[in-house]
Amino acid sequence: MEENLIAIGADHAGFELKEKIKNILKDLGYEVKDFGTDSTDSVDYPLIAKSLAVSVANKHPQKGILVCGTGVGMSIAANKIKGIIAANCNDTETAKLSRLHNNSNILTVGGRMIDEKKAREIVKIWLETDFEGGRHQRRIQEIRDLEK
Ligand code: RB5
Repeated sequence: MEENLIAIGADHAGFELKEKIKNILKDLGYEVKDFGTDSTDSVDYPLIAKSLAVSVANKHPQKGILVCGTGVGMSIAANKIKGIIAANCNDTETAKLSRLHNNSNILTVGGRMIDEKKAREIVKIWLETDFEGGRHQRRIQEIRDLEK
């Protein structure tokens, strides 16, 4: 499995933070698969969310990060894809708990909400925190059942 590979994508409002997060990921020893966008020209976030989320749902790679203005639109769109648990986390505690309790496979953040320093903290804790399992596994299964 490509555990070292992280998918990343953004719309125009997230483009600049996406570029910074790419460097953060490389600093942390990860490889990056970039789903665009490639500039601050306006694009529709659901289209970027869809292509990245389909890839992550197919576990190629297993985790992804999406950036829009707030992170909200990207999380709503990505969560429409079966197999995705996208968590909008603009703080470290939510990012940590979204892995421990929710087993999130996509992190979304807001380019208009956080700076590079905060993004580094959030990305690092999200990538380094494992799912706790146990009672949370049952709840994840209950979420999967909602997809049927
Ligand atoms: C684009 O202006 C903005 O709506 C988008 O980036 C995102 O924040 C939506 O949730």
